[in-house]
Amino acid sequence: MATDVITPQATPITSPPPSPAEAPAVAFLGSMSTTVSVNLEAKAPFPAIQALFDHLDAHPDEVAKLNATYPHRGVIKTAALHKLESDQKFTIDLSPMRNSRIPEALRQSLDPHGLGEVLDFFNAISAQYVPTILSSLSLLAGTDLSAAHTSYNMNYHLCDYNPNTAAPESSNGCGAHTDYGTFSIIFQDGTPGLELEETPGTWIPVPGDATVVLTGWCAVILSGGRISAAKHRVRRAPGVRRLSAVLFVAPDLDVKLKPMGDSQPTRALSNTIMRGELDVKTFKDVIGKRWRYREGNEEMDNADSLSQDNEIENMVWG
Ligand SMILES: [Fe+2]
Repeated sequence: MATDVITPQATPITSPPPSPAEAPAVAFLGSMSTTVSVNLEAKAPFPAIQALFDHLDAHPDEVAKLNATYPHRGVIKTAALHKLESDQKFTIDLSPMRNSRIPEALRQSLDPHGLGEVLDFFNAISAQYVPTILSSLSLLAGTDLSAAHTSYNMNYHLCDYNPNTAAPESSNGCGAHTDYGTFSIIFQDGTPGLELEETPGTWIPVPGDATVVLTGWCAVILSGGRISAAKHRVRRAPGVRRLSAVLFVAPDLDVKLKPMGDSQPTRALSNTIMRGELDVKTFKDVIGKRWRYREGNEEMDNADSLSQDNEIENMVWG
């Protein structure tokens, strides 16, 4: 793959499609963000992902063992089984750190049911694409972002937009939000549902077979606003199962979130940001509380007072 995975010169999706011979590696999905569709050779192992969800659904004992490897928040999230208002999906939330805690016996038990293939996939993807995408984003940012990404702070998510949730007719697969980290690569199983907010309140569907690179809040801040991030959501169709695999990449947890490099921000950022008082770990904790509420895994006192992104916008912008 070329090093310029994401370039400002890439063809907007609204222009006429090029002939297959000169198809670009990248197409922007909307004019208001740096979200792009990328032609990656790698495809996510969806049969293995489905097998893993189905195996765990039938083996609660193994779910308990897997969750025990990360007792703080668990690994498998199934709040949608009993919460009508939360995102109607199940997730498996892995990371290199969490994977290293899975006992050998559990690994041997789950590997033939998809876990082995899934972890091999994420490990290969992160080695193959993360440095390349970071260099492309650095071009957009006008500064080298890799210095803030030395420890590969990554999460691996599997999502099962399963018809058998508490609210089978609900169209809410995943509520509108902007990712917190630097970028996310979303692999889809061919089923539509992912949508990007083009302008406030206007949603554009992403083709179900597209592999998408989405930028997040940390990219916006580190680039001084030169990188923009898209709000997105997932809509469900009743009775239709949809699977996705997402690689999240964030800066190192101790990085102070402020514009890197010497250029002036393109938009005024808050004093907290400009003084370098907000580190990635704190930012993730604040956002994480919101997303766990949306996913149904945590209660909140003032959940309705501000939307997830409004609160973050107040924290970020001057
Ligand atoms: Fe997201």
